[in-house]
Amino acid sequence: MVLYKLDESTTTGIPTIDSQHKELFDRVNNLLMALTLAKGNEEVSNTVNFLESYIKVHLSTEEDFMIKNSYPGYPPHKAAHAVFTNNVLKLKKEFQERGATSNLAVAAKDLVGDWFMNHIRTVDMQYVPFLKDKIK
Ligand SMILES: [Fe+2]
Repeated sequence: MVLYKLDESTTTGIPTIDSQHKELFDRVNNLLMALTLAKGNEEVSNTVNFLESYIKVHLSTEEDFMIKNSYPGYPPHKAAHAVFTNNVLKLKKEFQERGATSNLAVAAKDLVGDWFMNHIRTVDMQYVPFLKDKIK
């Protein structure tokens, strides 16, 4: 099951960003697969923990690019990232409180995978013309 992938609508053309987005998509795909196959708590736990730490890395990479290049859309973009960070914490809480259930799969899809894909398409894509030639 490859629900999330880089395609025309989600590729920024900025290599650092695209590789981080791909990593996040791959991990969410793996999480959904692990939940579908009822692979057990350890793999799910590892993936949720990975997502929590990697998302911090990714969001600060983007925010650093925006700050260093004085991107005018930074404030609302940062606010959107704060929502996403909160979504990931909700995912973690769901896992801690109720385990690897179908509720967790719904949260992984709605709060993390779909949210992030939509964010790339509508918010990240706005910085592409501004930042594309300034960063690698
Ligand atoms: Fe972003």
